[in-house]
Order: sequence, then C-alpha cells, then structure tokens
Amino acid sequence: STVDWEEASYDTAGHAHFLIKEISEQPAAVERTLSGRVDERFATAHLGGLNLDAREARAFRRVKILGCGSAYYSGELGAQLIEELARIPAHAEPASEFRYRNPVIEADTLYIAVSQSGETYDTLAAVQEIKRKGGRVLGVVNTVGSAIARECDGGVYLHAGPEISVASTKAFTSTAVAFALIALHFGRVHDLSPADGRRICAGLKALPGQIREILAQEGSIAKLAAEYAQNAGMMFVGRVRGWPVAREGAQKLKEVSYVHAEAYPASELKHGPLALIGPELPTVAVVPDDELVEKNLTTLGEIRARHGRVLMVGHTAPDPKYAEDCILVPKNEPELDPILLGIPLQLLAYHAAVALERDVDKPRNLAKSVTVE
Ligand code: AGP
Repeated sequence: STVDWEEASYDTAGHAHFLIKEISEQPAAVERTLSGRVDERFATAHLGGLNLDAREARAFRRVKILGCGSAYYSGELGAQLIEELARIPAHAEPASEFRYRNPVIEADTLYIAVSQSGETYDTLAAVQEIKRKGGRVLGVVNTVGSAIARECDGGVYLHAGPEISVASTKAFTSTAVAFALIALHFGRVHDLSPADGRRICAGLKALPGQIREILAQEGSIAKLAAEYAQNAGMMFVGRVRGWPVAREGAQKLKEVSYVHAEAYPASELKHGPLALIGPELPTVAVVPDDELVEKNLTTLGEIRARHGRVLMVGHTAPDPKYAEDCILVPKNEPELDPILLGIPLQLLAYHAAVALERDVDKPRNLAKSVTVE
C-alpha cells in the first residue's frame, strides 16, 4: 500500500530545519512502520511483502544485510535483532565493499538490501550481483517504487514519509523497527516462544510513546550539545547492542556538525584508541542496562581515570566517577532498547550543528542519495 503525503511533508512546517522536523516526526513514522504488522494473537509480525512462506523462511541458514552509510549501520542493528530473536547467523556489510569483492552467493543465505532512497547505486549494484548469481534478496526501503524496491524479490516498506534532510534520522529508526518486525517474524517460524513474541509485540507498541518522552528532553540535550561541540573531536563507544548505535551517533555528528567523531567498540579501546583519551577528547558512551552494564562502566572508569569527559546515554544515572553527564532514555525490552538509545544522539548532532552554525540540512560535500559509483 502507498501513503498519500500532505504537501506539508515538503516544507519545514514551522521547524528551523528539516532535520529537526524529521527527528520530531519519529513517533508517527514508527507508528506507520508498525501499522497493521504486529499480530498479538499469534505473537508475530505480518509482513506479506516478504513473499516467503514459513517453509521457505525456515530454510535460510544465514542472513546477509547490505547498505551504505546509515543504512549499513541500521543493518548492523538488524543483524543483531535477527540473531537474537531468530537465532539465525546474521551479518551486515557495506554494499559498496560487497559488490567489489566477487561475493560468494549461497542458496541458503537470505540477502537483505537497506536503502531510504531506494536509489543508492552501490546498493543497487549489490542487489543486481546477487540476483545475477541466483540469490534471493529482499529490500528494506522507504521510497515506494524506487529502483532497489523494484529489483528485489520482496521486502518491507518503511512508510516513514519523505526524508528531505541529507542526514538520515527517521528512516534509520524506522529501518531498525522494520528489522525488529522481520526478526520477530523469523523468530516465530523458528524457536522464539509465544511468551517472548508477546513481549516483543508489547515492546514495539510502546516505542512511539517512549520516543516522545526522549524528544521532550530536547532542551537539556541542546545545552550539552553546545558544550561538547566546542571540542575538536569526540569518541563514541558501545558494546554489542550499543555498538551500532555508537557508530550511527558518530556518523550523525560528523555529517552535520563537521566535528571529528570516531566510533569504537568499548572493548577495543584498550587495543589502541585509549592513547587518544584525555581532557581534549570527550566520549559519548551508549550503555544500556543489560548484562554488559558492569563491563561498560569499567571502561568508562578507565576513560575518567585519563581525565576524559564522558557523556553516558543509558537507562540509569551513573555514579559521577563513571560519567559527568548523562542522558536517560526509557527502558523497553533489551533487544529493542538500541532503537531508543539512538534518538538522543540525533538531537546531540543536530544541536551541535546549530551551535556551530552549519548548513544543517545540506552538509558540505554530501548528497541525499548517491546515485553514482
Ligand atoms: C545518512 O545520514 C547519510 N547521508 C548516508 O550515509 C546514507 O544513509 C547513505 O548514503 C545511504 O542512503 P540510502 O539509505 O538512500 O541508500
């Protein structure tokens, strides 16, 4: 089905920029991504566009997800969700790397291409290479009828609405939600219990309201952003569920504010980048309240011991010995928490760009959709 967009989609509707308008639209965008797809009775998700019956869905042994930039990072969240809920090995890779390395295409691998625009050339070329070799490829795409959507064997439309600002926000979040639906669907044709399926259904339904709660903190996040933007660079860290969130947070910051940002798995810091840590390089740490929280806090203690300032995004206010600043988000289910943890990082990047008077919606050197090699 298609959605008729009001003309209002194409002006900032009273917002200073499209970017903050699109960040603010996320509760409604997520509601549309979920609309008609959550089946509480059978504790699963209905995704007719996948064009896979249960027997075919069970036959896949691996999932490979392809996309570029933020689409790739949302694919990393997707791979985690599929592994956690369906227990199918899943991995994301930049579409641009995949297409140039003469990839091995396997009949028992399900390929999933991710694209907001549906027109990114490298992602389209990856889809064409998979199909040429006889592989099965689904699309997770926002733009209905786009080149990638047409080329795929089936897929899930985001229905996030038009995204005008070059930096992706609502499409990123809606893609993660679409992957949660795919993971729930595959989980329930494998061994995800009805009780766990119901838990995920309830968690999905709670997302729009929880995103509204995070957006209500915009004022305090803007203050932190104006302070942190004065640094030449920032480090973003996360472990497992927090890691793709940290990568996307760093991407958003550098795209719109031009502040240098590096993202590292928290556990990798001691293997090299810890040498960079000091008062001049603050760290943004994504720390969900999951089984890794203690390990994450230990890492933050190591950063603080080197006089690095830490801004923690998580669920429970940390002792100041671990982080001077924190942004708290509401808790959902552990598997779905990364979706919410990414929202404050969008606001942080936006307000850093505003504080530095950047061209927020059209950052230098970037195009909304890269339709060339
Ligand atoms: C997102 O903020 C970026 N501008 C960029 O990485 C983008 O996600 C990438 O070019 C892929 O675009 P697509 O989703 O339209 O394929």
